[in-house]
Amino acid sequence: MVNPPRKIIIDTDPGQDDAVAILLAMASPDEIDILGITAVAGNVPLPLTHKNARIICELAQRTDIAVYAGCDRPLAHTLVTAEHVHGKTGLDGPKLPDPEMQLTDGHAVDYIIDTLRRQPAGTVTLCPLGPLTNIGTAFEKAPDIVERVQEIVLMGGAYFEVGNVTPAAEFNIYVDPEAADIVFKSGIPIVVLPLDVTHKVLVTKARNDAFRNIGNRVGIAVAKMTEFFERFDVEKYGSLGAPLHDPCVTAYLIKPELFSGRHVNVEIETKSDLTRGMTVADWWGVTDRAPNAMFIGTVDADGFFDLLTQRLARF
Ligand code: RIB
Ligand code: CA
Repeated sequence: MVNPPRKIIIDTDPGQDDAVAILLAMASPDEIDILGITAVAGNVPLPLTHKNARIICELAQRTDIAVYAGCDRPLAHTLVTAEHVHGKTGLDGPKLPDPEMQLTDGHAVDYIIDTLRRQPAGTVTLCPLGPLTNIGTAFEKAPDIVERVQEIVLMGGAYFEVGNVTPAAEFNIYVDPEAADIVFKSGIPIVVLPLDVTHKVLVTKARNDAFRNIGNRVGIAVAKMTEFFERFDVEKYGSLGAPLHDPCVTAYLIKPELFSGRHVNVEIETKSDLTRGMTVADWWGVTDRAPNAMFIGTVDADGFFDLLTQRLARF
């Protein structure tokens, strides 16, 4: 008996790695049914993230998928963006046309609430790929939806890998730690794909060549995206290529056996300026705080890239 595809909402701040995650999901209809895409401010401001989400839909010829605009700033802080990583547009690299498809009317937060109320309880997975502002806002506005969420599978946080935007914090959590705190205290089953694992899936030249050699528009666009956004990590970490952060979320949904981790307690620093947005993972169980997240630390990187390349070839 084959399981039906998992129904998901992708909450995103594209970003080249978000784009690859969304394309991988679109190429995997047997495993993933994308109910909708909700854009949030993060890598670049909201007008660009919702534009980029629509550009990706058109690149994949999936303009049937509704894109909603969500929150344009975090709950408590001013917005911090990452043009130094993703470029001015947030999707620098390939030259892709401005979208013709329109945003779908309605706020992303209301779409998340309505969808969770309409779909049978326990059948919708939320897949945040950016700051958790839309998700945290939805839970605050409509607490009744919290128990209806099947699972949250998110990219964010770091423990052994420490921070990428400050010494202590990973970007998605740093931008909106208050929203992250709401999510991690929600009681919903959470799978975290932190920098600890995403820094192990680097787009080396050979892997980038494999994207380009797929020979379709999507493969060529992905090769140009990852060639562009690798600069930050290569210069900072001496990496062998761009870390594919967000596609770890989609790959986990398709082939969870590629990943492994530990169910631990994770709490979010929201008080200290020094460590704002740190994901304090009790990896060694030194506290009596109840485990609330599956914190992923390892991945079969070659298996990940084989899956990704094979699926991108489906376009
Ligand atoms: O820290 C990496 C995360 O921040 C990724 O989701 C990237 O797209 C940015 O949003
Ligand atoms: Ca992202």
